[in-house]
Amino acid sequence: MSSISSKEIQIERAKTTKIDQVDFNNIDFGRIFTDHMFVCDFKDGKWQTPKIMPYQPMTIDPSARVFHYGQAVFEGMKAYKDEAGKVWLFRPEENHARINKSAARLAIPEFPKDYFFNGLHTLLNLDKDWVKPGMGNSLYIRPFVIATEPAISASPASEYRFMIICSPAKAYYSGKVRVLFAEKFSRSADGGVGFAKAAGNYAAQFHPTNLAKEQGYQQVVWTDANTHEYLEEAGTMNVFFRVNDTLITAPTNDRILDGITRKSIIQLAKDNHIDVEVRRVSVKEIKDAARNGSLKEIFGAGTAAVISPISAFEHAEEVFELPNIEDSFASIFKEKLLNIQHNLSEDLHNWRQEV
Ligand code: COI
Repeated sequence: MSSISSKEIQIERAKTTKIDQVDFNNIDFGRIFTDHMFVCDFKDGKWQTPKIMPYQPMTIDPSARVFHYGQAVFEGMKAYKDEAGKVWLFRPEENHARINKSAARLAIPEFPKDYFFNGLHTLLNLDKDWVKPGMGNSLYIRPFVIATEPAISASPASEYRFMIICSPAKAYYSGKVRVLFAEKFSRSADGGVGFAKAAGNYAAQFHPTNLAKEQGYQQVVWTDANTHEYLEEAGTMNVFFRVNDTLITAPTNDRILDGITRKSIIQLAKDNHIDVEVRRVSVKEIKDAARNGSLKEIFGAGTAAVISPISAFEHAEEVFELPNIEDSFASIFKEKLLNIQHNLSEDLHNWRQEV
């Protein structure tokens, strides 16, 4: 596989910065982008010389396969600034491995590790003023690959574009989230692409999520496609259930995203001697636990969502409101995770990477 050093990346700097126009206290997730973007094309069987250029719209042929067959995968990661002004990534090796796993499932060529990391670090160094210090602030990083070959036969493209764009971020969900447990629609199936961050996985949730929103729920918690009896993930985040003092989450498989926040919480639970069970969790079990008072909390975990407490769920027209509890696992894990991400606490597992 070809290799590249940071010096070989072609850089065109933005002539002016947009940063002064941004109100960093009022950030709507994913609408504002930094001054630069990273672009690397795949052509003639190999990734070409990468470029960093001013963030801008681009021209893509209307016949590009991504528009017709959704051959596209992406990642979500974040950079944080500590009190000394150093910028940190959180477990970025996991994102690189996962985008290539997603890519392989969609017949997209792997993106080499040195291209990914040299591109990412060079881009973040150029745009580091956009990473604001302070708890709750981060720079959301969106690497993605699209099939750009202009051809509409239904087969994998021979040309792709890998890009990284960055967006200053605060909370993804404001306040607690109400969710609907899926009874009819499914997010993914055995042997499918549910484990991948494939663009189409997200588009397919929009309609059922809109229906849930009409009923007052922000998200759907997906159940297994065969029986709708087992709880899986929420689409923008993995889901954890606390029954008494045990934390339960579904095991990852080819239907569920192998979330980096999810696996970090499982590790943090073990580090803090909290019982954690990674096993199938049924709708019935959670409804029974809600009825008998042993269901203490449900929360979602993801890069964008961080840790989002869930305040209520509905299933089969029955609504369950969750109690407000002190020292919730959600708040404990959120604090521990953010402290590691912002370089405020010891990094036992070497999760931080300095930019
Ligand atoms: C992330 O958490 O990074 C995601 O990809 C979720 C996205 C739908 C915002």
